[in-house]
Amino acid sequence: MKPFERLLLENRAWAEDKLVKEPEFFKRMANDQTPDFLWIGCSDSRVPAEIIVNAQPGEMFVHRNIANQVITTDFNSLSVLQYAVDVLKVSHVIVCGHYNCGGVKAALKKQDPDLVIINKWLKHIKDVYRFHQTELESLATEDERVHRLVELNVIEQVYNLAHTSLIQHAWKHEHRPTLHGWVYGLNDGVIKELITLPPGSMISSIYQFDDE
Ligand code: CO
Repeated sequence: MKPFERLLLENRAWAEDKLVKEPEFFKRMANDQTPDFLWIGCSDSRVPAEIIVNAQPGEMFVHRNIANQVITTDFNSLSVLQYAVDVLKVSHVIVCGHYNCGGVKAALKKQDPDLVIINKWLKHIKDVYRFHQTELESLATEDERVHRLVELNVIEQVYNLAHTSLIQHAWKHEHRPTLHGWVYGLNDGVIKELITLPPGSMISSIYQFDDE
């Protein structure tokens, strides 16, 4: 059996099992989705969003990219955000990073001349490093710097969300969503909360919209 064929077989088994346990499951799924959460996570194969929080299909709208970034020129993540907030009306947006993140580690190194596209993506994490350079360079080891930069990157992405017109508009007019910054430990499977911004949280005036 080829490796990909295992996935197709597993899918058949999963669908059959689901049907046995919950005969109405797929009928229910074929209707509209009403997830309460938008999850923005890392693409890392070791951090599968639904599995680590035991969420069922239909519970979370998910966007994953390298190092769980929210970049305000990235139409992919912004489109996901707009759909989740304006159409699905989610109550919570969760940015979940993870320790030992390859993207964050790479951002602490020199740029790789063979990875010109990824360099551009990781540049934003280098900026987070620069914002917190004094704190990060006071740490004794590379591992500690990666560990802390993973956390600072999550917090930065939560602020990036709060700085969008999308979030500010929803905060003002619908008093949602709450923004969460979490970090997942690969070595123990546990999620730690880093930051929570409820609707209406104070943000720096230079990021506020005049007409909102
Ligand atoms: Co990662």
